[in-house]
Amino acid sequence: MARATQAIINLHALRENYQLAKKCAANSRAYAVIKANAYGHGVLPVANALSAMADGFAVACIEEALELRQGGILLPILVLEGAMDEQECQVALDLDLELVVHQSQQVRWLDNKLGSLRIWIKVDSGMHRLGFAGTEVPALVSELRNMACVSQVQLLSHFACADEVGHPFNEQQLQQIQILSPMKLPWSMSNSAAILSMPEAHGDLVRPGLMLFGASPLSGRAAGDLQLANVMTLQSRVIALHAIGAGESVGYGQAFVAKQDTSIAVVAIGYGDGYPRSARPGTPVVIAGQECPLVGRVSMDMITVDVSRCQVKLGDTATLWGVGLSVDEVAKCCATLSYELFCQLTQRVKFQYLGR
Ligand SMILES: Cc1ncc(COP(=O)(O)O)c(C=O)c1O
Repeated sequence: MARATQAIINLHALRENYQLAKKCAANSRAYAVIKANAYGHGVLPVANALSAMADGFAVACIEEALELRQGGILLPILVLEGAMDEQECQVALDLDLELVVHQSQQVRWLDNKLGSLRIWIKVDSGMHRLGFAGTEVPALVSELRNMACVSQVQLLSHFACADEVGHPFNEQQLQQIQILSPMKLPWSMSNSAAILSMPEAHGDLVRPGLMLFGASPLSGRAAGDLQLANVMTLQSRVIALHAIGAGESVGYGQAFVAKQDTSIAVVAIGYGDGYPRSARPGTPVVIAGQECPLVGRVSMDMITVDVSRCQVKLGDTATLWGVGLSVDEVAKCCATLSYELFCQLTQRVKFQYLGR
């Protein structure tokens, strides 16, 4: 029997989540953000599943856009970090991509090119990661409009604190974009969190990422309460069961020492699959439908779970997150976010797609 570690991806739920983003931002187009291998979910199956309904896609870099075009995706593709060199500008023209420009060198690379690129000027509205200051935008717009390869100029920015509803910095950042509204350019500002909580920030294009994958983008809000449907369920199986006595230890470093007689289930998943080594003792694992606590250290290929209070047998299915166990809750136990848990799954995990 093959190693049982698998991620089951519910593409029907993915489509429902995209529709929810569209419903929240009914007057905006929505490009599904599928960078980093669609947040670890598999970029081509995800893109294909959304192709019939999405307005377009957004990725981080040209390589990711190329993978989509080579996979037969014809919809608009926005490259969020823009070109990394002049050659990539030509690739963007050849592949009919939409490019962000966030620094002046990227503008210079467009000199003397021919074609019809849709350009998004990244405006630094306060995050101070990428982008031009608002005061630089009017001159830049004129310059870009005079270029032979530019067919459209639009504005794009990104929130630093949108996950915290009502954070004063959200309004401050939005104001920085609103100052530019006399230019009457199409604009895009909203990630998942702002789609769900800041209708005034929806603009002409929204950029849903995490919410498509069914995890909550808002701190303190459960995905279910936001009507998000679970997409990924990460599963494996119990490959060994042990009864240990009080005072006996489990795993590397003797990190868990039993206080009383304890039943331990060994599940075939570890940091070699992307299950985080930082998962603290007590992180929930659902085995045969029962929630049980992780004990001891996460190894490369295995974890150990205290199943003393549960009915568990060899071969039972263990859910690490997904249906019946919120990825956001597991992420909290690992001092991280669902974004990172999704992205760090390794190639050893087998992916199975439902609802293609
Ligand atoms: C520029 C940009 N827009 C949109 C998104 C999507 O954000 P989220 O996954 O929080 O919806 C990201 C993700 O990091 C991003 O970098």
